Amino acid sequence: PRVAVVFGGRSSEHAISCATAAGVLSALDRSQWDVVPVGVTPTGHWVLVDDDPVRWSIREGAPLPEVGAGDGPGVLVPVATDDRALRVSEPGAPPRVLGDVDVVLPLLHGPYGEDGTLQGLLELGDVRYAGSGVLASALSMDKGFTRTVLAAAGLPVGPWVTLLPGQWEADREACEARVAALGWPVFVKPARAGSSMGVSKVSAPEQLAAAVELATSHDPKVVVEAAVPSPREVEVGVLAELVEAPGGRQRAVPRASVVGEVVVGEGRDFYDFEAKYLDDSAVRLDSPADLPAEVADRARALALEVFTAVGAEGLARVDLFLTADGELLVNEVNTMPGFTASSMFPRLWAATGLAYPQLLDRVLRLALA
Ligand code: DAL
Ligand code: MG
Repeated sequence: PRVAVVFGGRSSEHAISCATAAGVLSALDRSQWDVVPVGVTPTGHWVLVDDDPVRWSIREGAPLPEVGAGDGPGVLVPVATDDRALRVSEPGAPPRVLGDVDVVLPLLHGPYGEDGTLQGLLELGDVRYAGSGVLASALSMDKGFTRTVLAAAGLPVGPWVTLLPGQWEADREACEARVAALGWPVFVKPARAGSSMGVSKVSAPEQLAAAVELATSHDPKVVVEAAVPSPREVEVGVLAELVEAPGGRQRAVPRASVVGEVVVGEGRDFYDFEAKYLDDSAVRLDSPADLPAEVADRARALALEVFTAVGAEGLARVDLFLTADGELLVNEVNTMPGFTASSMFPRLWAATGLAYPQLLDRVLRLALA
């Protein structure tokens, strides 16, 4: 089958998406998949780009990868429902049909890709795509709504406050009082971003304004969370499996991977952007984590409940906190988690018995089923 691998995009996680694509382009089994690599520039132009993992990877000492308008001819996005073909436009020439695309692999992190917008576009064009649909993508992108839905489903989340767009500017005192009621420290986050972009840990009231301003530079909506005291960060991969259902049909059943742990090194407040991508010595990803079997079982069961509660499909990485008292709290859901071979999600599945190329194959086959 033909797969359009779409990556880059308009969010602040553009470069991370390129790195994810680099991993995927090098691992996809080319005897099975005919790959059409499509980059989305930071301004939202779709471009037919080089099928070159090195060009898209994050390399030490090199600038972060970025899709540019000059990386290739433009691609017309598939909104016509007469066929599932992508078309390429070159200046002065009629659009050239690239051929049918059987499935799109939206390797986009953050807003305008992981948040239901691309999924909506593909639904309009009747194009199949891997992963969650419009609602689960949009919901999981928004850290405020995610918590509201999980809490309503009776799942454990820590205390939080949402500052709606404009609220901070309109009534700062009221916002400060709501935040102070959480106790200090708190984490201030853009409601819809990823990779810890715009996130700060705030230990005292006088640091709050700067943190809210930083977060609002990513998203006018801000979520403030009570910091969990000395948490362990544990993560679970969820992946659907097709099983036979009555009537000869197939049904997708979510399965949980082994549990992983992000061990953040000394001197770092939290698992921030630098620790995630730029400093290899800053964190250790343990898969599986060194946890009592009982805790790991609870984490896996919780991850499956979270996956179902947000209506996720295909895959997701569910991030949890394990408190000093042995309680599990949900931190967030990533419907398109970092997906290089050394990212947590593929490592969790490798440790569960599904190697990276087979994992990719499974994600795509699910979308075609
Ligand atoms: N948002 C990043 C890519 C992750 O969750 O892995
Ligand atoms: Mg995230």
